Amino acid sequence: MRNIELFIFARVLHVIGVVLWIGGVAFVTTVLIPALRNLTDTKQRYELFEKLERRFAMQAKVVTIITGLSGFYMTWFLNAWNRFTEPAFWWMHLMLLVWLIFTLVLFVLEPAFLHRWFNQQATKDSENAFKWLQRLHIALLSLSLIAIVGAVAGTRGFSFF
Ligand code: HEM
Repeated sequence: MRNIELFIFARVLHVIGVVLWIGGVAFVTTVLIPALRNLTDTKQRYELFEKLERRFAMQAKVVTIITGLSGFYMTWFLNAWNRFTEPAFWWMHLMLLVWLIFTLVLFVLEPAFLHRWFNQQATKDSENAFKWLQRLHIALLSLSLIAIVGAVAGTRGFSFF
């Protein structure tokens, strides 16, 4: 495979990764959590969340790795490291930031204490725990969508300033 073909392949993988990953985050944010918050049985609410979101977390881990590897490969191929020093390429910073947050949550914080901590919070005050869970997901989804808008427009030469 020629180098340019490898680059195109990495880009395809990157976008497929983003679709599966951020699409899943959108589903959890706009469909799953609101539906769970409508359940009155708080035990059932937590158990369902546990089953469904944990299953998505597995998929998210795989696509986070694929998106990160393809992203770093493209940066290397384009020799675009200097973009990280230029404010005009804020969307490169944002892509990296979104990736770092999810990587930290999925691979470090979640197994270390987040899982146990959320379980405790949901047992103590389920309404409040799920309200904050939804807020956090909305914030992360918004950040991800801004990164996507910036990247798609930015890679085609659009200048935001
Ligand atoms: C390690 C983290 C990441 C790195 C190093 C990275 C790097 C890159 C690079 C180098 C490009 C191609 C730029 C160009 O052709 O000039 C790109 C495109 C793109 N990235 Fe990322 N990225 C990362 C994470 C993400 C994340 C988390 C998202 C989604 C929130 C994302 C969404 C996109 C999109 C939508 C494109 C444009 C694809 C297209 O329209 O062709 N990236 N990324």
